[in-house]
Amino acid sequence: MEKLITNKLNIFNFIRDYKLENRITDLVMTKKRPVWIQDLIAIKKKESKEIYSRWIQLSTIGLDNSPRVRTVVFRGWSKNYEMEILTDKRSEKFKELEKNNNVEACWLFAKAKCQFRFRGTAKIALEEEAVNYWQNLSPSSRSLWLWPLPGAIYDLNSFYPLEINDGVPKPENFILLKINIFEVDQLLLQKPIHLRKRWIKNSGWIEERINP
Ligand SMILES: Cc1cc2nc3c(=O)[nH]c(=O)nc-3n(C[C@H](O)[C@H](O)[C@H](O)COP(=O)(O)O)c2cc1C
Repeated sequence: MEKLITNKLNIFNFIRDYKLENRITDLVMTKKRPVWIQDLIAIKKKESKEIYSRWIQLSTIGLDNSPRVRTVVFRGWSKNYEMEILTDKRSEKFKELEKNNNVEACWLFAKAKCQFRFRGTAKIALEEEAVNYWQNLSPSSRSLWLWPLPGAIYDLNSFYPLEINDGVPKPENFILLKINIFEVDQLLLQKPIHLRKRWIKNSGWIEERINP
């Protein structure tokens, strides 16, 4: 009799957990989208026409373990909601990422007075995905990857191409980075109390309101 009750309880708990899990999944993932994406899209819409709305600050760990930060262009989201960024394999950040691929990206939406911070890890995307980006860049944007070594002393005699025509194959130093995000923190400056929210991948992307 006792065994029967225990079994019934186990089944009850299983069904309850299953329902709860599915409800949470429904809440945090809409069509496999983590919920914070909706917040980001809504905020971004207000200033999407501004060129700076795609500029983000990407931080890495320097080779000497001190922080490094620079502006990069947000290129888009992958199917798995990884952040896509184009960069040069010859740059310092690339060497840093080879040693330690932990990153944080900070994205400010000035009009909305809203900041998103993303923690994650960077990886190099597949060659064909990078080729696709290369082909779709404008000739002037492509030229940067054929400029002399980033960070080296400027030489007046160096050649700086200003345009790279369609059809020129992707250079080896043209890299597509994908940032796999595991934590998102949003701060919205509003009255009377600022709004701060956090989502953590390992907790199923459940939204938590935290103190600003
Ligand atoms: C508005 C703006 C956009 C930029 N976009 C990119 C970018 O998408 N990718 C990139 O590698 N560098 C970009 N840069 C240049 C970087 O900020 C940085 O100077 C360069 O990548 C070298 O950084 P590193 O020495 O830390 O690797 C951009 C700079 C500015 C001002």
